Amino acid sequence: MPGKVFYRAVRTERCAECNYCREYVCQSDSCVGCKACSLACPNEAVSMVEREISGYVKVKINGETHQVPERITVKSALELAGYEFTRFPEKNKIFAPCEVGGCWSCAVEISGRLKPSCVTPVQDGMIIKTDVPRLKRLVHGFSGHTVGGVGTPWWLKGRRYIEAACFACGCNLRCPQCQNWTTTYCGKDIPMTPFEAARKMTALRKLIGVDRMAISGGECTLNREWLISYIRELRRLNPDREARFHVDTNATIVTPDYIDELVEAGMTDIGIDIKALHLDTFLRITGVGGEIGKKYLKTSWMTLKYVLNEYGVERVFVGVGIPYNPELIALDEIREIGEKISGISTEVQVCALDYRAEFRSKIKRPSFNQMYRVWGILKDCGLKNVVCQTMYGYINPEGRVYP
Ligand code: FES
Repeated sequence: MPGKVFYRAVRTERCAECNYCREYVCQSDSCVGCKACSLACPNEAVSMVEREISGYVKVKINGETHQVPERITVKSALELAGYEFTRFPEKNKIFAPCEVGGCWSCAVEISGRLKPSCVTPVQDGMIIKTDVPRLKRLVHGFSGHTVGGVGTPWWLKGRRYIEAACFACGCNLRCPQCQNWTTTYCGKDIPMTPFEAARKMTALRKLIGVDRMAISGGECTLNREWLISYIRELRRLNPDREARFHVDTNATIVTPDYIDELVEAGMTDIGIDIKALHLDTFLRITGVGGEIGKKYLKTSWMTLKYVLNEYGVERVFVGVGIPYNPELIALDEIREIGEKISGISTEVQVCALDYRAEFRSKIKRPSFNQMYRVWGILKDCGLKNVVCQTMYGYINPEGRVYP
């Protein structure tokens, strides 16, 4: 394999022995160089080092036999056989956005069973098919929520359960301050079909007595086939007029045709997390690289504009999340974001989110007064429905704080 470099993971002295990588990420007895543990480690204690090829195995891919090195992932084997992978959905390429085994967008059929190619070790004699329905993914954390997400109407927040929610594993972003990192970097759980997840959500809705059913993440939109099918199933199982189907997303890969398909499937509410307006801020907040970051940022704004223009705030309830922490984004940019959103719609609900130290980040949580200032700036932009998350609860559009 001239020119191709293979890796193995090595734990460094930063390792705190938390065992997260072994319990929730690693799928293999001996390292296959998938890098999932290095992406998931909150202490950044895993280095990927080059290794020699130790031997070869034979696999059949879409009917053709290939010889590939042993102790690599199925994704690497497919790449060696000429298949292309991408972190933004593209025709004729396999979409592999999370790379930790969470979203199953990269899944292939291996000897009759669907498996995520990014973390599954290649084995001698495997029969691999790439053109298959990807109707499984990891989704967990089914629970009742009192606050809800960005796409939850503010006037409902703060009561006893207002939503039944679940969280899809895997994300395409690498935010150092990820506030749900045990979902984002989870690759080891029981995968669910859309029907299994919809049935579980429906049972939870009945149990806690709510009308709203939310899916968040991680990034729930990564596996499009799965999500559309899940919303359809959910609507079929909840045909009453009161039922609401809520999707929370970073919108970085959600194109207008995807939005149309979600609405057609039954989505009634959407929360869109806009991470920034300027590229350098977006890259700092999300931890992704330049070229892909540019595409993600552009897509998220295009999607927000499309949803608001096509579906208004009534046909689909829309909430927008804006991050704030003085170490990540300046108040001037917050104002620019507010003005840009206000230019599209003044009615849309906007929620300022106080970003704090989670996962790998050491940033200090913004004070109540700092967040109050952000709330004021967004109100000054002409936005009528500004909500603000603070350490003491939410500030509602009327300026009242509630837990
Ligand atoms: S990219 Fe492989 S599971 Fe998400």
